[in-house]
Amino acid sequence: MKKWLFLALLPLSVSCQQKPTLTENKPEAYTVLPKPVSLIPKPGNFVINKETVLSLTVKTERFEQVAAYLANLIKPATGFELLIDKKDPGNNTIAISLDESVTNPEGYKLVITPERIDIKASEAAGAFYAVQTLRQLLPEAIERKEITSGLAWTAPCVEIEDYPRFGYRGMHLDVCRHFFPVEFVKRYIDLLAMHKMNRFHWHLTEDQGWRIEIKKYPKLQEVAAWRKETIIGHNSEKPQRFDGQRYGGYYTQDEIKEVVWYAQSRFVEIVPEIEMPGHAQAALAAYPELACKPDPYEVATKWGVFDDVFCPTPQTFEFLENVISEVITLFPGRYIHIGGDECPKKRWEESAFCQDLMKKEGLKDEHELQSYFIRRMEKFINSKGKKIIGWDEILEGGLAPDATVMSWRGTEGGIAAAKQRHDVIMTPTTYCYLDYYQSNDQKDEPLAIGGYLPLDSVYSFNPTPAILNAEEAKHILGAQGNVWTEYIKTPEQAEYMAYPRAIAIAEMTWTPQDMRQFADFQNRLEGHAARLDELKVNYAKHYIRK
Ligand code: ACM
Repeated sequence: MKKWLFLALLPLSVSCQQKPTLTENKPEAYTVLPKPVSLIPKPGNFVINKETVLSLTVKTERFEQVAAYLANLIKPATGFELLIDKKDPGNNTIAISLDESVTNPEGYKLVITPERIDIKASEAAGAFYAVQTLRQLLPEAIERKEITSGLAWTAPCVEIEDYPRFGYRGMHLDVCRHFFPVEFVKRYIDLLAMHKMNRFHWHLTEDQGWRIEIKKYPKLQEVAAWRKETIIGHNSEKPQRFDGQRYGGYYTQDEIKEVVWYAQSRFVEIVPEIEMPGHAQAALAAYPELACKPDPYEVATKWGVFDDVFCPTPQTFEFLENVISEVITLFPGRYIHIGGDECPKKRWEESAFCQDLMKKEGLKDEHELQSYFIRRMEKFINSKGKKIIGWDEILEGGLAPDATVMSWRGTEGGIAAAKQRHDVIMTPTTYCYLDYYQSNDQKDEPLAIGGYLPLDSVYSFNPTPAILNAEEAKHILGAQGNVWTEYIKTPEQAEYMAYPRAIAIAEMTWTPQDMRQFADFQNRLEGHAARLDELKVNYAKHYIRK
């Protein structure tokens, strides 16, 4: 007891005497991305050592996960196995506690003094984001997987209050044009979480490959997951050349569950996308009876938009409902993304079945037929307790009653949807398509689809259009960066396209608009680059002045 008292009092008295002599920290010590809402630097440091206790006074599984995450973050490089204590021993403590005054469920307070670190939140997600901020305040060597001795594990003293601007802070990955292994998907999620992003839009089905195991339809695995070859070079090159190599793969349901669990423990909700009625050629290769013309189809071997799409027949709806039923059992999140983009209407125009259906249902054109398709699927998905998201084409022919719109062809679709009081996620090509080149001089970059989207352009985007009134603006849930992979063949290249632009998306969706300045972002990013280097992130260097 005496010893405890002594230990408890000693640092206090030391700190009182030492306060005037505590060194001021340089601004670079506070390299946090995205920028916190309020960060007040203080002199001095907290030093993590092997006696530091991790105190957790909140007894929920989610908070316990956060404490375990922090302990696991600290262990590899320091070698310290921090004791997780259900009480708060006082000094030399990192304390995670409940604070109901933190009103945003993802918000937090982080106070670092020479004696202790306090993380306060009302929900575990907020505590998790405080941990990500603390991580970024520690030396970048904390990211190492091997014990690093001779370093002081210091965090600069500070008072932070922080919360996100938007609830939807997302990144997308197309795993169909090229397939990415589970280990990379997890790493992608890790990097999102480090930058406080909370949605991973997993684009799982396409013309060129179906990538999710559906047990009821084995030909999706045997046929739709594989293409006989892939176009070489750009789709626009003539003559087109092909590599002659069979290509493909899919995630088993066990792998999907593993990724879902991984994402959940990082507070990332996965939005799975099952494309309909277009971008369906791989599914038609497996089940041609789902097309309007039951010809033999092959999984697409080049890029673009294809005429052969799902036909709105009873057997297509039965197929899609069975597929979605399996998908829903795998993903606990609130949304199913049903695609809806780039669906040519040619086959429907030619189809007697479609024309009859339109007459019977009183649909005036094929856009209304698409709307009928999406509404029907929405009804089914809603009946399972989930909401749909669709690309902005789902506005054409009339929006399904509860659909959220992902605005990609500019912001107009998003504006129209918000005016109809529908939720919107902004991802316009001009600011959010991370498959575009990021340098003006494309000679130093790998082949890409085209376009030019440098980091400062991404950063400049404000997801809330000025034209919306306050009520309409509430429907802007946030924004997302998209990584389409026609020209992205490897994990390294995907990372190169995503980073650092994904960090601009993170700050755009987290930090209040009036606090964002590109020059300040770039300064912090340059400091942050050392951490990305430790993590071996293959980021583009165009905006990193060394
Ligand atoms: C899209 O880029 N087709 C949504």
